[in-house]
Amino acid sequence: MALKTKRLTNTFGVEIADIDLSKPISDATIAEIWKTWNERGLVLMRNQSITPEQHIAFSRRFGELDKHEALEPFRHPQFDEIFMVSTIPVNGKPSASENVGRHWHSDLSYTLHPAMGSLFHCQVVPEVGGDTLFASTTAAYDSLSDKMKELIDGLWAVHDYLSTPTQKLKSPEVLARLRELHRPVAQPLVLTHPVTGRKALYIAETLITHFVGMTAEESQPFVRFLFNHTVDPLYTYRHKWTKGDFIMWDNRSLIHIALSDFEKGAHRLFFRTTVLGEQRGHHA
Ligand code: SIN
Repeated sequence: MALKTKRLTNTFGVEIADIDLSKPISDATIAEIWKTWNERGLVLMRNQSITPEQHIAFSRRFGELDKHEALEPFRHPQFDEIFMVSTIPVNGKPSASENVGRHWHSDLSYTLHPAMGSLFHCQVVPEVGGDTLFASTTAAYDSLSDKMKELIDGLWAVHDYLSTPTQKLKSPEVLARLRELHRPVAQPLVLTHPVTGRKALYIAETLITHFVGMTAEESQPFVRFLFNHTVDPLYTYRHKWTKGDFIMWDNRSLIHIALSDFEKGAHRLFFRTTVLGEQRGHHA
């Protein structure tokens, strides 16, 4: 079956109009979605009314799902495969995930088993705001000069879960526990996409502390340059959510950020499944 598609930007993203995820989906259609997802990086399907079980079952057709063991406070109470991104207080206390994703990143880059893709279903959105921004790390890589490509080829970047600003607000006890769960991991700075063969920058806003073999002072100007270059509006897409929107993003060709551009106290709730990619990297 040929999918009914519409491009979201010139470089990446596509909307598929004619899929209902609550209905059985043939292997041939899954193969088409997989191909489109790899080629365009981001797939949007609107008006999806699905249960967590249907969300999990659909996601499994693309690979093994993360059970979010190291991110236990964010898990759905009944489904380990569902990571909840929520600003809704629980028993009068702030939600553990209220500030998740407030920096540009590729999911699980700080682990030895980073995410291939994330499948995100919108449950509740603020009246205005709560948008997600995506940037194409493939388009960013392509537009570097040949000399810069040569310079960064072979660099390994150390990703540290604890280096983001929100982690630094946690108590020493919590940080010590998180350090046991999340040791810094070195990842190649330039990734070759296993399906398309295209190169992309594996970059992040605050997670990268340094390049292997270089000091933080030597590394950071490069990290800043490559990061700022990647999030140039030329390579981005901003999604304004409506309840029922379902977006699948490819973490090997995109980075994303959850914006806090909504009223304090407004409710925002999403369910995410995470398809694991190839095991990559090593402890730094
Ligand atoms: C995430 O990083 O998985 C969350 C993105 C969002 O809340 O928009």
